[in-house]
Amino acid sequence: MSFKDKVVYQIYPKSFQDSDGDGWGDIRGVIQRLDYLHELGINYIWFNPMTVSPQRDNGYDVQDYRTFDPRYGTMEDFEELSREAAKRGIGLMFDMVFNHTSTEHEWFQKALAGDEKYKKYYILRKGKGPGVPPNNWQSKFGGSAWEYVEAWDAWYLHLYDVTQADLDWTNPEVRRECADIVNYWRSHGVHGFRFDVINLISKRSFEDDPNNYDGRQFYTDGPMEHVYLKELNQASFGQDEDHLTVGEMSSTTLENCVQYAGEDSNELDMVFSFHHLKVDYKNQMKWELQDADFMAMKKLFTKWQIGMQEAHAWNALFWNCHDQPRSVSRFGNDDRYRRESAKMLATALHMMRGIPYVYMGEEIGMPNAYFTDISQYRDVESTNIYKILLDEGKSKEEVLHILQERSRDNARTPMQWTSGKNAGFTQGTPWITMASRYEEVNVEKERAAKDSIFAHYQKLIEMRKTMPLVQDGLYVPVLEEHESVFAYKRVLGDEELLVLNNFYETPADVTIDAKGYTVLLSNYADTAVQDAMTLRPYESVVLYRRNA
Ligand code: NOJ
Repeated sequence: MSFKDKVVYQIYPKSFQDSDGDGWGDIRGVIQRLDYLHELGINYIWFNPMTVSPQRDNGYDVQDYRTFDPRYGTMEDFEELSREAAKRGIGLMFDMVFNHTSTEHEWFQKALAGDEKYKKYYILRKGKGPGVPPNNWQSKFGGSAWEYVEAWDAWYLHLYDVTQADLDWTNPEVRRECADIVNYWRSHGVHGFRFDVINLISKRSFEDDPNNYDGRQFYTDGPMEHVYLKELNQASFGQDEDHLTVGEMSSTTLENCVQYAGEDSNELDMVFSFHHLKVDYKNQMKWELQDADFMAMKKLFTKWQIGMQEAHAWNALFWNCHDQPRSVSRFGNDDRYRRESAKMLATALHMMRGIPYVYMGEEIGMPNAYFTDISQYRDVESTNIYKILLDEGKSKEEVLHILQERSRDNARTPMQWTSGKNAGFTQGTPWITMASRYEEVNVEKERAAKDSIFAHYQKLIEMRKTMPLVQDGLYVPVLEEHESVFAYKRVLGDEELLVLNNFYETPADVTIDAKGYTVLLSNYADTAVQDAMTLRPYESVVLYRRNA
């Protein structure tokens, strides 16, 4: 099938809409909001995991792959959601977490009880000596990536939290179990799948990391990755003509992604890569702040757009997700130019080649949470790093400032629907504190505003769905040396788009060949096309022409 007209909306279910007052979002809450999503125009929804989990990592610690956590609802609720979504032309995408399970999963529990079959589901190794782990890898959430189990006199690998044990994909039984899970959801009408950190499943070796870091060079894009993905494809979703799959690729390379998401690779439809979201990491370190390196970001977009295009492979386009701070606070200006910069970021992304993802609340320009106390944070990564950075000697103020900029909880606060109690998210007590500005930024207010961010997203989504030029046009970089404007063309036959985005508050001069262009979309009411243009703060414009 062709998926090139798709725009995916990501729902973090715990925070989208609560229907029963327990402070958690749920499936029936999503049903209540389907009309809203239909009006926005999206045609796919990706849900973060909703099955049974101890919630150490909000569902990415899976205890049961097949049963909904009752706090989200039941299979009947899901079937109703599925029918109602289909009526509105919306497909559903589920999150498959196959690099690890919760240590509460029955496989791990059986392994703990000594069942040899299930011990082989996990990665167990002997330590280097008493109390010394098999190697020096650090978990991505802090501390050693290994945990000792006395009953086994062995250590298990956990690249993430200590309760998220890595599965051993060299075991064919594990691979069969994973395909069975995908097939289970296919039999319930789900044909979209997002695979969590799927490029970490093939471990290369278990040597010490010479940099005393997380060991990523020994398990990222490992030697059997492509083999495993082809096998999974063939054993499950690849049997559906109509499917939509995306792999979350941690610290990956372009060379691997052209294969993961190549048109004829029979692996996945597209990939999430994260390089463009690390341009504000100082020395590549997430917890060290620096201003975004705009030229580096431009170069990365160009490299991936061109590289994927030349290889006939597909990108997933995104600024936001449940793991990233809000883009309008991060790369825009969430104060004086909130509307302008939110629209600019949207245009810059949606007009590229690939499938755009909209993360809940992005379409109304939701800013970061701006929490002021550690007790407001829920994310295990944030609470761990808080302690680690304090131990390293940073002051409390410094660490809280870093979390305000970088914590994943910035994205995880409840969706802001109204200016009323808890922004209309719940009648009860929300599981996490509301973001600080919900009375000012919410769906009700945004949709009432003249020329809203929401309306801008509607236009962009409509363009993706209806214009072959946006779906298929060749990506051509322009103004590559410009220090504040990110610009490119899309070309298909005799049609052409020119997309100009000023990423800064300072006006930016650009020179173009304006002949024949008309303005298709702008975030200012009165953009005039001419050879010498001065783009105003965060001005963003899509120009169209037909070449003779
Ligand atoms: C990536 C997910 O997006 C993130 O939320 C999670 O913590 C890790 N994978 C571990 O599953």
